[in-house]
Amino acid sequence: MTENIKSSRVSGFYRLPIEKRIEFVKKFSDLTDEETKLFSSCLNIDIADRMIENVLGTFELPLGVAVNFVINGRDYLVPMAIEESSVVAAASNAAKIARVKGGFTAECSPPLMIGQIQVLKVEDVTEASQSIIEHKPEILRLANAQDKILVELGGGAKDLEVRILDSPLGKMIVIHLIVDVRDAMGANAVNTMCEALAPEIEELTGGKTRLRILSNLADKRIVKAKAVFDKNTMGGENVVDAFLESYTLASIDPYRAATHNKGIMNGVDALIIATGNDFRAIEAGAHAYAARKGRYTSLTTYYKNKDGDLVGEIELPMAVGVVGGAANMHPKARLCRKILGVKTAEELAMVAGSLGLAQNFAAVFALSTVGIQKGHMSLHAKNIAVMAGAKGEEIDQVADQMVKEGKIRLDRAKEILEEIR
Ligand code: MEV
Repeated sequence: MTENIKSSRVSGFYRLPIEKRIEFVKKFSDLTDEETKLFSSCLNIDIADRMIENVLGTFELPLGVAVNFVINGRDYLVPMAIEESSVVAAASNAAKIARVKGGFTAECSPPLMIGQIQVLKVEDVTEASQSIIEHKPEILRLANAQDKILVELGGGAKDLEVRILDSPLGKMIVIHLIVDVRDAMGANAVNTMCEALAPEIEELTGGKTRLRILSNLADKRIVKAKAVFDKNTMGGENVVDAFLESYTLASIDPYRAATHNKGIMNGVDALIIATGNDFRAIEAGAHAYAARKGRYTSLTTYYKNKDGDLVGEIELPMAVGVVGGAANMHPKARLCRKILGVKTAEELAMVAGSLGLAQNFAAVFALSTVGIQKGHMSLHAKNIAVMAGAKGEEIDQVADQMVKEGKIRLDRAKEILEEIR
């Protein structure tokens, strides 16, 4: 095993030209020349055509890398695919602050996914439920017969739970099949098992099965991450207090919690996309989990420790895979996994959780102090400068002037450009 002993701590990474950034990542992650060429390539159209239907082309997003991350004592460069400015810089900055007190610690539960089988038109739901529980060994055996490879890898259907629900259609049974999906996201394995079990379930219950599908509320596949943010690096205990005031609103108010959690997902989704995972599944699971106690709330919690430092914690479902689907087919997803150096779904989940916490800390930190527009505006100003026709060094000159004046508009950019020329 080759242990990565390199440091992800870099200052001024954003100021380097792209080739130098690639050189750094190449060294850190032992990329080959062939692999580095992938950064500037598009997804091959034939691969795209096998991934979805009615393909016309491919759609590109910027791919960046967040620096400075230490998670469970190991340095990571975290690839992020996202269209929004400031997100990658914010994550890197949060990771730099977390590093002062040792970085992030993360843990996650085994990769257990839930498949649901809905059973309707059952005469006696209590008796039928009993019958399902009594036949659990056969049901699990039948489920596992659908995926021998998963079972050989130590995964497979491990348990089942039976729920009786009241509904406008009368009482219905919902069976939860609990499947250890190992390093896959697991949707295919679970859905195949649920569909295969339906006839047996109908026979046992005398009812009619309808839905047989994975649940995206993957609350048995949870990642937790934690970090201590040094009060002095943050600017003093009064900044920690200001942070906690901002955070409190997210903990009590769904209107704020939605935005707060959106900030978390800025980071999580960017990594999920970069590694070819299903970001809709992660989004659905995260928001459902945020409402699990009957009221939608923050996915993170913050408090002050006895030294006056800020402690941040995050907890959310993380159904990610490192095998199967786009994670395997997409060459850039494979490249991003190599940059990360993750070998298992659990390790990827721990990076995603830590990144979510970092992203959230960065947003609330900025909101509690200077506001977020400052960071957003400088990149926005550069885009406006380019739209006005600025080239090379003119771009920074025009953008800096607009930021200084607080007027970031196309007409002003054109005027400044004329003045410079
Ligand atoms: C913007 O993409 C995300 C934020 O709104 C998150 C937050 O408000 O915490 C800045």
